[in-house]
Amino acid sequence: MQEQLERHYVVKEKSEMVYLDNAATTIDKPPEVAQAVLAALHEIGNAGRGVNENSLDAARTVFQTRVLLAEFFHAEDASRIAFTSNATEALNIAILGLFEPGDHVITTVTEHNSVLRPLYVLQQQGVEVTFLPCDSKGTVRPEQFEEAIKHNTKGIICAHASNVTGNVLDISSVGQIAEKHGLLLVVDAAQTAGVMDIDVQKMRIAVLCFTGHKGLLGPQGTGGIYVRPGVAIRPLKSGGTGVQTYLKRQPEEMPTLLEAGTLNGHGIAGLGAAITYLNRVGLDSIREKEMELMWHFYNGITCIPGIEVYGDFDSPRRCGIVSLNLQGMDSAEVGDELYMNYGISVRTGAHCAPRMHEALGTVGTGTVRFSFSHRNTLEEVDMAICALRELAGGS
Ligand code: ALA
Repeated sequence: MQEQLERHYVVKEKSEMVYLDNAATTIDKPPEVAQAVLAALHEIGNAGRGVNENSLDAARTVFQTRVLLAEFFHAEDASRIAFTSNATEALNIAILGLFEPGDHVITTVTEHNSVLRPLYVLQQQGVEVTFLPCDSKGTVRPEQFEEAIKHNTKGIICAHASNVTGNVLDISSVGQIAEKHGLLLVVDAAQTAGVMDIDVQKMRIAVLCFTGHKGLLGPQGTGGIYVRPGVAIRPLKSGGTGVQTYLKRQPEEMPTLLEAGTLNGHGIAGLGAAITYLNRVGLDSIREKEMELMWHFYNGITCIPGIEVYGDFDSPRRCGIVSLNLQGMDSAEVGDELYMNYGISVRTGAHCAPRMHEALGTVGTGTVRFSFSHRNTLEEVDMAICALRELAGGS
């Protein structure tokens, strides 16, 4: 097993690929993540499905990761965290499980389809939805949420950071507004979990939805949902739980309420190892490094003629994402050139955020998105800057 892992990492070190698509998924995971997944694949049974040692090992692994996540997000206790397969599943649980016909919900045009599409389902069922506009830099101000509140408003659903512009919303201020008006604040932390400190209690977050495979550095197929004590939420799925087998409905206690079927124990083992790594390195230094890389890139490209950058770079509230276009080129063409001729991976097109692109005026071209991880280097960023300079016709 060790030999296989070493071979994998040697091959990767020799690779000339520069991976700058960390907002889609991180691929440079700490080695202990793969080690934990491999060990779990061979050793653990099915959590909560028996008292044999393998099943107990699985239960311990799942519990340890749950505890790590609860501490990481400053939840009241581990039972408030349920595992999901990604942020989309968590958001579907939240959006479809909290609101009723006649309720009003406030969201923004900056959201990902993982928020928008479940909201369109709710709209068809008679839930009223307000989509707050953003300014030309893609910014939504916290006061806009307060201005949109109506007599029947029940919740606010918003991304902590836009996956297109990298703008970060001031969630603490939105949380204060939610608390003042008795609203449920649902936060999509797909782009910030593992990079920015998220304190669900201080930020007055009722439901936090996160994925495990981006900033948290865990495997794909992992993610979760935090639900504040006292918040009533309907489960999206029902099925086997290993407990209360003779009950005809899903058990009501968290986390079992939201966890039907066999959990992704192997992935959860990897996620636990990833969080242990993040705790060891520290969120402050991770964020500092990501911001250093992002600003180095931004400062290196803004002087290139014909480049248009999207997002609010006057604000200190940012994550490690820069979206741009090169004059006269479709984003897909730029992405292809970057990959084929320079070995640089980015994401192009609409990034599953249609209303954001409508607001930025980039529906026709999409944008070229560079997204950084603290495990990238300044040299890699310089390669991306040089490549863009060449593509723009400079030297
Ligand atoms: N939502 C992910 C992205 O922005 C996949 O690329």
